Amino acid sequence: MDGVRFIHRTLRGMMNGVEQASANMDYSNEQQVGALTGQFQGLNFVLGTHIHDEDVLIFPLIEKHAPDLVPNYHADHEHDREVLNRLNTLIGGLATQSPAERAVAAEQIQRDAVALHATSELHMQKEEQILYPRLNKHTSDEEQWKVLGVLYGKLPTQMFPMAAPGMMKVLNQDEREEQLRAFLKVMPAANLKVFVEHAPKGMTPAEWQELNRRMPALAKL
Ligand SMILES: [Fe+2]
Repeated sequence: MDGVRFIHRTLRGMMNGVEQASANMDYSNEQQVGALTGQFQGLNFVLGTHIHDEDVLIFPLIEKHAPDLVPNYHADHEHDREVLNRLNTLIGGLATQSPAERAVAAEQIQRDAVALHATSELHMQKEEQILYPRLNKHTSDEEQWKVLGVLYGKLPTQMFPMAAPGMMKVLNQDEREEQLRAFLKVMPAANLKVFVEHAPKGMTPAEWQELNRRMPALAKL
């Protein structure tokens, strides 16, 4: 289940983005409040979906082989969900608040953005070092591709204009190839076509040309 580490990398980039923006912005500037709101909505959606997919699709694969392991990860997810919900309320409330109210909310937003990034980082490291290696040991390639197919198939294409360049930006050429080959293998062609439309915005034209030489199938979508 190596594909998950690229999703983790994308999430790290998004959480860092929200953390930096919330710490360095002017909360009286409507445009900057709007930008933070958009950035957070992207993170809320991608992290929320990823947590749900792990709980419902991925963890059940390992549960029967390591029943003591999984509750720990579910508990981390509960915590992440709580912080995401709190941030959603705080950031969503900014638009209608007075400057004094915003100053109070800003402090809590910054604390929560730092906390979410830090606890999620630890959680993802645990998954990468302990949970996913165990999962790889106990499940066949075929089982894993089946789950990845479901997971990739339900990624909402309306998120691709933002998510495809975001993901490509945090990966190097070999990793981009690995991720796109995985998509080619199990993502529905119509969805992949949308991803491939927006992916080039996350790299230089030369890099995109080179990826097309490596994977001629991309041009045939
Ligand atoms: Fe997780």
